[in-house]
Amino acid sequence: MSYDIASIRALFPALDSGVAFFDGPGGTQTPRPVIDAVAAAMSAPLSNRGRLTAGEVNADRVVTGARAALGDLLGVAPGGVAFGRSATQLTYDLARTLSRGWAPGDEVVVTRLDHDANIRPWVQAAAAVGATVRHADFDPETGELTVADIEAVLSDRTRLVAVTAASNLIGTRPPVTAIAEVVHAAGALLHVDGVHHTAHAPVDLATLGADTYVCSTYKLLGPHLGVLAADPAFLEGLRPDKLLPSSDAVPERFELGTLPYELLAGAEAAVDFLSGLAGETEGTRRQRLAGAFAALEGHENALRARIESGLAALPGLTVHSRAKDRTPTLLVTFEGRDAAGAYRFLAERDVAAPASSFYALEASRRLGLGDTGGLRVGIAPYNDTQDVDRLLAGLASYIGA
Ligand SMILES: Cc1ncc(COP(=O)(O)O)c(C=O)c1O
Repeated sequence: MSYDIASIRALFPALDSGVAFFDGPGGTQTPRPVIDAVAAAMSAPLSNRGRLTAGEVNADRVVTGARAALGDLLGVAPGGVAFGRSATQLTYDLARTLSRGWAPGDEVVVTRLDHDANIRPWVQAAAAVGATVRHADFDPETGELTVADIEAVLSDRTRLVAVTAASNLIGTRPPVTAIAEVVHAAGALLHVDGVHHTAHAPVDLATLGADTYVCSTYKLLGPHLGVLAADPAFLEGLRPDKLLPSSDAVPERFELGTLPYELLAGAEAAVDFLSGLAGETEGTRRQRLAGAFAALEGHENALRARIESGLAALPGLTVHSRAKDRTPTLLVTFEGRDAAGAYRFLAERDVAAPASSFYALEASRRLGLGDTGGLRVGIAPYNDTQDVDRLLAGLASYIGA
């Protein structure tokens, strides 16, 4: 198994721009096979799903292929994969559906570590039915969100806990499997935001203990598309709002309107591309994904170590990403200088590393960074050591080191 970064980079047309992209946590660049799959879906006959015409059959095939691919990526049956515009939209839809079963006095737990897409939909759904929201805190010094932090806000009235599998701001990976145990022991459901996590590690929904899980394929080399995953048997028990003539089958019941078939074709291609990152051709796609993610993790950790030691040598920088288990995503602030200035300075040198709170507003505030956050450096499968060296040189010039 090998990780041939030069061959991988050659497949990303956007890298011809000469930009070093560290903005992967906001959305990754797209490899040629994904672009080709989107174009191929739109070049062939394409109609609404059906069994008769070529266009109908193609649309149907694309949906079946995308469900199977995302099922392989997330370790869930294809029938438990529903598509939507974004993780935010799917979470709002899910919150509206689940909250119908909540009553005043019921409790819902969200965390201060999460992206607002996994806080506000639950807060607003709870407010609509008079349920109470409890906030699990994390330790701003260590960046850790522990099982005890969740237990502290659990009660026999808790109906649902919403937690991230990885923070998009500081990379922290909370112990989701252990959290699932205490949540289920309390008789509540666990919803997991996997948008940041899924780009960096293999996922198995059952091992994770998530009742529902969302991710977005544009964070993992695919098109702009949201994914909801769950055990199909669990989805069978939910009654989302839907049109009268639209399918009541699972997972179609959760998909409002016509699916973006071309994006689904791209999503399948993205999973195939990920599964081939380490050059593996043997075994099932799920097995290849396991090997590919192991190789990717090795690659990303090596780059992360290079960035971390480079940053440590620069005076006046604070790195807020400190949790023991975390993704290769670093949040940096500067003594006496603002992160937005660093973002602009780097952008002028073709290094993309934005500064913001990245919608993890509560986490940014809890870290003492207000609503402005910091400079986020995220590593993606196409980054190489030259990218890292350009980033470090840019930051050294910015602070005048
Ligand atoms: C951790 C996390 N959750 C949720 C979202 C929202 O995803 P989407 O843009 O698909 O709604 C993001 C987007 O940045 C994210 O990073």
